Amino acid sequence: MNDLQTRIEGHINKLSKFTATPGKGTTRLTYSQEDQQAREYIKEKMKEYGLQVREDGLGNIFGKMEGTIQDAPSVLIGSHFDSVPNGGSYDGPAGVVAGLEVAALFAQNKIKPKYPLEVIALIEEEGARFGGGLMGSRGMTGLLSEEDFKNLKDNDGISTVEAMTKIGLDPALPKKRDPKTLKAFLELHIEQGPILEEKNIPIGVVETIVGLTQYEITVEGQAGHAGTTPMDRRADALVTAAQMIAQFPTLAIEEGEGTVMTTGKLNVFPNGANVIPKKVVFTVDIRSGKEEHIQNVIGKLNELIDSYTQNGIQVTAVQQLYMQPKAMNPEIVALLKQTSNALTIPYSSINSGAGHDAMVLSDVTEVGMVFIPSKDGLSHCPEEWSDSLHIANAVEILYETAKKLTEAE
Ligand code: GLV
Ligand code: MN
Ligand code: MN
Repeated sequence: MNDLQTRIEGHINKLSKFTATPGKGTTRLTYSQEDQQAREYIKEKMKEYGLQVREDGLGNIFGKMEGTIQDAPSVLIGSHFDSVPNGGSYDGPAGVVAGLEVAALFAQNKIKPKYPLEVIALIEEEGARFGGGLMGSRGMTGLLSEEDFKNLKDNDGISTVEAMTKIGLDPALPKKRDPKTLKAFLELHIEQGPILEEKNIPIGVVETIVGLTQYEITVEGQAGHAGTTPMDRRADALVTAAQMIAQFPTLAIEEGEGTVMTTGKLNVFPNGANVIPKKVVFTVDIRSGKEEHIQNVIGKLNELIDSYTQNGIQVTAVQQLYMQPKAMNPEIVALLKQTSNALTIPYSSINSGAGHDAMVLSDVTEVGMVFIPSKDGLSHCPEEWSDSLHIANAVEILYETAKKLTEAE
């Protein structure tokens, strides 16, 4: 194992310790104690690698290597450092670690870039605490307004501002970043699917990222006694929710072309074994590479909502996120492929079924993304694993690419 690979493993192992569920995967919710611990580690490494560290009003972390041109836009490189509940150690951190190690290679090879290089570590990409997701990048680009940010609350009713203040972050700092300060964004991510491993190819150069939308659906009925209320006199919120959710697989399959639909979160109120459920709140995540499929499924979801609003049941929906499918920048895609060829690291073009901060940043700057294989195609679970050798390969490609991007006019 070379030094680069050893350092990569060291970072990944260290970051994996900052979890609220030790032994049961990584649970690192935004603005939690574990966020604070990971944040301290990332900032410390950024400083050790000679970067100027700052945090914005969302808690995104930036480590900057100044360029020789005054006030020039930066080439950003990184990913997110939050996780899903009981997730793995690589989704997000692999990209942050890659950014750190690209900066380390600049320093090691005494490269003084023309344009600044900024390593970034973004918050709440998963939306596991405040819903929706892609919050660090949406806030940074202004897609999520200051007002909407302030109104977000977690499941316990704690607001973004309260939570961030509790770990010593300053919500009054600026959030939106002037697009003029951005030259490009590079992100490494684990594939989270089986394709690269099956083909035995170490690098995926991402061409497009899937479009996605997320809804929070609330079903309200009437609570009552489980023993004394006859079956024909119930307005059971959970039975209605279950009937709706059971139709989603058919809806997605009928839409076709890889359209997917998932309910991953569901809360029942009051959640008592002998109480008829009064209220159920659940999420719906709809994805497709073609926007028309997402639109069609949204239409069908709305029809379903209307059809179940009857007999004492009320169904309402709030859209929490809507992102069109996004293409990566063709010049950066070409540059990543050329660089892989030059380094004799085999690559394959790939489309992403997962959402990424790169899809948000592609609205305001030129974006490129590389994937590395995921063992058994698993992600968003404790078994998630990728080879540090593959991360090291990707770091070499991103280093060469970042060198070109920080030099080019
Ligand atoms: C992030 O992992 C997403 O695709 O939702
Ligand atoms: Mn991710
Ligand atoms: Mn993820």
